[in-house]
Amino acid sequence: MTKFDGGAVRSTAEVQDSGVEPQEAAPVDPVTSPAQPIPFPSEPVVIPDYLENVYHWAYLSPIGRAIFDHPMVVHSILWGNMHRLTRAVVDEIEPGQSVLQPACVYGGFSNHLADAVGAKGHLLVTDVAPIQIAGARRKLGGVPQATVRLGDAARPPGGPFDVVACFFLLHEVPEDYKKAIVNGLLGAVAPTGKIVFVDYHRMRPLHPLKPIMHLVFDTLEPFAKELWRNEIKDYASDADRFTWTKETYFGGLYQKVVARPRKG
Ligand SMILES: C[S@@+](CC[C@H](N)C(=O)[O-])C[C@H]1O[C@@H](n2cnc3c(N)ncnc32)[C@H](O)[C@@H]1O
Repeated sequence: MTKFDGGAVRSTAEVQDSGVEPQEAAPVDPVTSPAQPIPFPSEPVVIPDYLENVYHWAYLSPIGRAIFDHPMVVHSILWGNMHRLTRAVVDEIEPGQSVLQPACVYGGFSNHLADAVGAKGHLLVTDVAPIQIAGARRKLGGVPQATVRLGDAARPPGGPFDVVACFFLLHEVPEDYKKAIVNGLLGAVAPTGKIVFVDYHRMRPLHPLKPIMHLVFDTLEPFAKELWRNEIKDYASDADRFTWTKETYFGGLYQKVVARPRKG
């Protein structure tokens, strides 16, 4: 098991995380992997323009949080696939592992990851928005193996991690940010670890939801259709250093991509 550097995470995050009550990291053992811990980035965390300009209603507004942060709402938005897609991530995690979730997810996703790592593992949840950090801390309150910190997925904090679980983040960010996030997160994966992306994908040609998904993406999700055109792997500048596998779900509307560092 690879343990992330809890001390480094705690000290810098408290400086960055203004306005949100800091939560102590669960005690962790010394790093047991030959991989070196990645220090917490020292630059301040700022809310990216795309989040403010495109997604304020969903992620930065208290009303948006109150409406959307319920398991049934997320389940409906994903056409009944939330459990299946959460399971697709949980299946990649073993008890005792260190896991990074680089952006918050509405509903109970983080709690499922915390259950999967168990009492001997560790889950670090980060997000760029203080309001999301506060919400995630409420949901994970009393879960000792979970820590929640402000951080940008393009500059992942702490690590390396056994598993990085990036759930429906890429479709919400512009192309240059997709590259920065994919590359930043790949750099946080332990040599024996993996990264798991779950996100939208190009549907099969006669998918019955195609017209409605076009409408949703054209009106609300301006960066999502790029995932219909591009493979997640193509955002990696050093893709050959990893092995890549892809599975699709629900007529191709969703994908799970797993990348593992090649040996040697
Ligand atoms: C993971 S995505 C979408 C998840 C999914 N649609 C859901 O059900 O919540 C939403 C989160 O990503 C966060 N986010 C957006 N850009 C980010 C970035 N560059 N780094 C970290 N978090 C980011 C937003 O603040 C928001 O909390």
